[in-house]
Amino acid sequence: MNTQVAIIGAGPSGLLLGQLLHKAGIDTVILERQTPEYVLGRIRAGVLEQGTVDLLREAGVAERMDREGLVHEGVELLVAGRRQRLDLKGLTGGKTVMVYGQTEVTCDLMQAREASGAPIIYSASNVQPHELKDERPYVTFEKDGQTHRLDCDYIAGCDGFHGVSRKSIPEGVLKEYERVYPFGWLGMLSDTPPVNHELIYAHHERGFSLCSQRSQTRSRYYLQVPLDERVEDWSDERFWNELKARLPEDVARQLVTGPALEKSIAPLRSLVVEPMQYGHLFLVGDAAHIVPPTGAKGLNLAASDVNYLYRILVKVYREGRIDLLQQYSPLALRRVWKGERFSWFMTQLLHDFGEHKDAWDQKMQEADREYFLTSPAGLVNIAENYVGLPYEEVA
Ligand code: APR
Ligand code: PHB
Repeated sequence: MNTQVAIIGAGPSGLLLGQLLHKAGIDTVILERQTPEYVLGRIRAGVLEQGTVDLLREAGVAERMDREGLVHEGVELLVAGRRQRLDLKGLTGGKTVMVYGQTEVTCDLMQAREASGAPIIYSASNVQPHELKDERPYVTFEKDGQTHRLDCDYIAGCDGFHGVSRKSIPEGVLKEYERVYPFGWLGMLSDTPPVNHELIYAHHERGFSLCSQRSQTRSRYYLQVPLDERVEDWSDERFWNELKARLPEDVARQLVTGPALEKSIAPLRSLVVEPMQYGHLFLVGDAAHIVPPTGAKGLNLAASDVNYLYRILVKVYREGRIDLLQQYSPLALRRVWKGERFSWFMTQLLHDFGEHKDAWDQKMQEADREYFLTSPAGLVNIAENYVGLPYEEVA
């Protein structure tokens, strides 16, 4: 088998890159370890930056998002009992975010791939990239008991945090930067109307909570929990009671409760590897970096990487600009680090660190909250990062 760009992984990164390249006339084959049903069963965040929305439109997969997605012009921050609306649109000169679940984005991208007729191979096992420093690298994989070889010009490693791409780079090449937080998020999805028309990020001495949504009838709530918490110990009733206890009375009174459709716990972690390129292999999205969910940046940083790699590859194939290939990693990383900084900052600002922060750091956290939520410059700072910083030109 032969292609121009072999894409490993059919999460949002791989599917979006595949769609954009296909529209630009560049051949791709996507190899995915799981079944489509499994990929679509994963519940993840749901806030899209303006740049991500624009890229989905450019890829021609935005029709349902534009119909069903909810444009949000603000978010609420609840700190020390004070309810502060962050006017995203007003503070950023007109920018907004789109609330539309990652699962829906993935579903739209899968359908577009199918409609395009471009190859995508699900349930591909033992996927392995080879000869990454060579002019003609290749990927081997197994499907239905047979081993296959896919020859290509470039490999896009879009296979998430646990994927094979990052691991196939020889030891000593990548530098890893990591921060582990002493808590996780317990998430719950329910078919109940959201408690507020905008998202609420709430700091509380019992711990952080987030009131998010997927639609006008489907809510997504999160609670900060200790790392050793078990999801089985959280009945629906316990979840709702704890959420109410962390919200001001007027908000808690409006909370509509109902049975959980899903509950899960995810630890919070920041990780970046540098560089994001090794020979003809490019790492994209979660394969190269993860963020704690507090800033809603995971999917958006994946889209940002896709934006850069896509524009570079188009220039490589159309204009012979192979010099641009080495710009991918520095370009992508400049924006990744700003997203990492914001996710880390929002996590620091809004969570309860208990004994994990010393008295000085706790005072700094209080001063940050006081400053950022009362100063116009502080509010602009949060707002411009939340809606997403601009992409650099690829030239
Ligand atoms: N071979 C083939 N496919 C693989 C392999 C492998 N060895 N390992 C992982 N995959 C697949 C996974 O099954 C998954 O479908 O790669 C895909 C990676 O998808 P994601 O983890 O969703 O990563 P990405 O596409 O970069 O999307 C980033 O997802 O994790 C969230 O917060 C993150 O929202 C962000 C987004
Ligand atoms: C979500 O809706 O799942 C969500 C929204 C905002 C975040 C994190 C998660 O910051």
